[in-house]
Amino acid sequence: MTSKQLFPKWFNYLPIIVLVGLTLILGITIHLFWFWFSPKHLEVGYQPKQPIPFSHELHVNQVGMDCRYCHSNVEVSGHSNIPTTETCMNCHKTIKVDSPAIKTLTEYHNQKKPIDWVKVHMLPDYVYFNHAAHVNSGVSCVQCHGNVNKMTTVYQAKPLSMGWCLECHREPEKYLWPKEQVTNLDFRPDNQLKLGLQLKETYNVNPGEACSVCHR
Ligand code: HEC
Ligand code: HEC
Ligand code: HEC
Ligand code: HEC
Ligand code: HEC
Repeated sequence: MTSKQLFPKWFNYLPIIVLVGLTLILGITIHLFWFWFSPKHLEVGYQPKQPIPFSHELHVNQVGMDCRYCHSNVEVSGHSNIPTTETCMNCHKTIKVDSPAIKTLTEYHNQKKPIDWVKVHMLPDYVYFNHAAHVNSGVSCVQCHGNVNKMTTVYQAKPLSMGWCLECHREPEKYLWPKEQVTNLDFRPDNQLKLGLQLKETYNVNPGEACSVCHR
């Protein structure tokens, strides 16, 4: 008896069949992940590399800076500014001047060249948004940006989709904090609902759900 009789003829092709099959499955899996889980498709988690490795965790948690030292416009304007190199140099003229990252920073500063920070959060042009309106109504940065104070590199923590915006516009009491606490990202009230309902009245908050609120 020979092996020819023991196994059917197609058995000789088994390695090729397995190889082609595996390649197809791998290809389809990669494609699916690429398509559905890439930052472009599902923006949560988008974390671009920045030209200078600036750490919020270090500056906020360890050095103890308030968001508004750098994002000084956030309470007064729709747009929240990114600080200029001038702001950084207030400290880095003298702090860590031998570090390669601070040398790069100083070079930008000396050449009067703005740093090309990569934008992380971005709404489509047809959506109107306003920072001051939120921050001054007791909506903390953490509700929309996550715990930036713990991020070494900033990433998008929330979907920023229409459904997500509306969830809060319908029931803002679930999120409102005292205005003094909006940049204290670790603040957590004992009874959010009770506090929220109180603040909603005190601040006279009533975010609209009409299309024209966000699409003007
Ligand atoms: C020392 C200055 C400084 C402080 C303090 C600071 N930031 Fe920033 N922030 C920056 C710089 C510079 C960038 C741009 C680079 C980056 O994205 O990391 C930035 C980027 C961001 C972004 C992303 C913006 C985008 O591109 O979409 C958010 C959100 C943000 N900061 C929130 C905060 C919050 C919340 C706090 C307070 C807890 C804070 N920042 C404190 C300097 C600062
Ligand atoms: C209020 C003072 C202050 C300001 C303003 C400030 N920093 Fe810093 N930065 C510090 C301190 C303190 C450290 C930690 C130094 C250490 O590790 O000893 C630091 C560390 C750093 C480091 C890490 C350096 C290394 O190699 O360890 C980078 C990068 C940096 N800062 C960038 C920036 C940028 C960019 C800005 C402006 C957006 C900025 N800083 C604004 C105080 C400041
Ligand atoms: C209600 C949600 C919300 C709150 C609260 C909020 N942000 Fe934002 N933030 C956004 C959105 C949405 C964008 C993107 C805006 C765009 O693309 O037009 C953004 C963008 C930014 C940017 C990039 C510059 C810009 O304006 O596009 C910075 C910096 C920033 N936020 C900082 C902060 C800080 C600091 C706080 C708290 C003091 C805060 N944000 C509170 C939703 C919020
Ligand atoms: C966590 C709660 C919360 C989230 C999330 C939120 N909002 Fe709001 N929004 C508010 C509150 C509170 C107000 C203030 C309402 C008032 O003053 O009566 C407001 C007001 C507004 C206004 C009116 C501003 C003005 O100038 O009158 C716009 C526009 C707006 N939000 C857009 C958005 C968009 C777009 C998003 C999503 C990207 C969003 N909001 C997400 C709570 C939220
Ligand atoms: C609280 C703010 C807010 C309100 C109110 C709002 N939208 Fe939007 N809308 C957004 C945001 C943010 C986006 C972009 C993100 C997204 O596509 O989910 C958007 C996107 C859209 C889009 C594009 C959807 C897509 O998939 O490309 C349409 C269409 C739209 N809105 C229609 C409406 C209509 C109609 C209403 C009133 C019934 C309305 N919106 C009310 C915030 C809002």
